[in-house]
Amino acid sequence: MVKNLPQSIDATTSLLASEGYVADRALSTLTFLSLTLSRPIFLEGEAGVGKTELAKVIAKGLGRDLIRLQCYEGLDASSSVYEWNFAGQMLAMRNGAEQADIYSEKYLIKRALLQAVEPHTAGPPVLLIDEIDRTDAPFEA
Ligand SMILES: Nc1ncnc2c1ncn2[C@@H]1O[C@H](COP(=O)(O)OP(=O)(O)OP(=O)(O)O)[C@@H](O)[C@H]1O
Ligand SMILES: [Mg+2]
Repeated sequence: MVKNLPQSIDATTSLLASEGYVADRALSTLTFLSLTLSRPIFLEGEAGVGKTELAKVIAKGLGRDLIRLQCYEGLDASSSVYEWNFAGQMLAMRNGAEQADIYSEKYLIKRALLQAVEPHTAGPPVLLIDEIDRTDAPFEA
């Protein structure tokens, strides 16, 4: 079920708690401001402190889709934004398709970042870009 954004820091704490997530005042404030101002959250910290979990509980608590981009060394634009279905395009061309047809949505493979900016019926999704420190410097930048 889609829920409205929390209207206060306390309401944000309750929202996170309702999904079993323990947040201190600072993290609730950060989350509240992020949701209210439509700004991203950048989290750094030790393993297991709840960085990934925060994105999951925000999505669950607000009834939004969660889109996860799991980062790794060598991750590039085609794996994170979009790529074309070359095999499908080749087949279509062999069957006489025009250039305009093969560069249509039918042959577009949408990856996480493109999926995230598309309209979602449940409202804007939560985009989790996880372990961004694993990517190569140019991609991270
Ligand atoms: N604040 C929290 N409230 C409730 N559960 C938590 C909290 N933080 C962590 N957990 C629990 O610990 C588990 C590990 O947390 P999570 O995967 O978010 O860690 P992480 O910070 O992303 O670690 P890593 O850097 O290894 O990816 C979660 O699945 C969750 O069950
Ligand atoms: Mg994690």
